[in-house]
Amino acid sequence: MPRTVHVNIHELFQASPVVRLADSGKNCLKHGSLQGRIALVTGASAGIGLAIAKTLAQKGVTVIACARNTDTLLALNRDGEIPKGTKIHVIKTDLTKEQEVLALYKEIAAQHGKLDILINNAGMGGKGTLLDGDFEEWKNLVDLNILALTLSTREAVKLIDGKSTNGHIINVNSIVGHRVPNMPSAHFYTGTKHMVTALTEGLRKTLQSKNIRVTSVSPGAVETEFAERALGKDPEASAMVKAYFAKAKALEAQDIADAVVYALSVPAHVNIDELTITPTQQVTL
Ligand SMILES: NC(=O)c1ccc[n+]([C@@H]2O[C@H](COP(=O)([O-])OP(=O)(O)OC[C@H]3O[C@@H](n4cnc5c(N)ncnc54)[C@H](OP(=O)(O)O)[C@@H]3O)[C@@H](O)[C@H]2O)c1
Repeated sequence: MPRTVHVNIHELFQASPVVRLADSGKNCLKHGSLQGRIALVTGASAGIGLAIAKTLAQKGVTVIACARNTDTLLALNRDGEIPKGTKIHVIKTDLTKEQEVLALYKEIAAQHGKLDILINNAGMGGKGTLLDGDFEEWKNLVDLNILALTLSTREAVKLIDGKSTNGHIINVNSIVGHRVPNMPSAHFYTGTKHMVTALTEGLRKTLQSKNIRVTSVSPGAVETEFAERALGKDPEASAMVKAYFAKAKALEAQDIADAVVYALSVPAHVNIDELTITPTQQVTL
């Protein structure tokens, strides 16, 4: 039976001794320290990925971060938001291009020789319904949300040492990866995230023998650039999303980064299969 954790984010971080200890810097868990691990975060130039990259760097992880635009990541290195003497290794990558993904991993192998953690975060939504959607948009969603995640995972596993207990793949999924909301413009996206659920579970079963842990992190509404990117500059749609997020008191990207740290910090014999995190006030979709 999969071990599934459905949590209210605020309860999680107030009640969990694992997180309390990790956050207070007195992490006494045998395998809880993230110090010295090497992680790749995809889609790290904005939103959830940026928060994860920054937070892992602050916890002593060597972070490699990729996206198509690298300005925000390079600014993190300049602006003193990560500990002195550390830097985020930024690699400009369009994850929908196979050759760029292969080049990314070649560079990681050359620079670092190995990888411990892969955070498959890059993802996008769309605006078309299943009846009026645009073929190119559907292809983009498949390329990024499914194919890039799968290709990246295949390449990452080659660099993860199965003899250590540090290997961990986290897929940033969504609550719509587990249910189908009554929201027509989200239905194609919903299909891609259902595939992420299936891929994550398949990977977990495949990678058990290699001692690599696999986790799905499924957020509800998070205040990021996601909706604006999906809906474009449509002022009406944008106003509706803003109102919904305000009513739901949407999560912050940092809430998801904290959940990722939690999943990575539990002892080596524990695999968090699924972490579902929703705003306390979010109406069930
Ligand atoms: N926000 C939410 O409410 C929410 C809820 C549930 C799940 N999620 C999931 O959370 C993940 C992160 O979303 P977010 O909310 O942080 O969105 P976001 O603010 O729009 O950030 C998306 C990130 O993906 C990167 N990206 C997009 N296309 C890319 C490409 N072709 N190659 C490389 N990187 C690419 C973007 O960087 P560049 O543009 O610089 O390439 C950016 O860093 C996604 O998987 C999303 O499905 C979000």
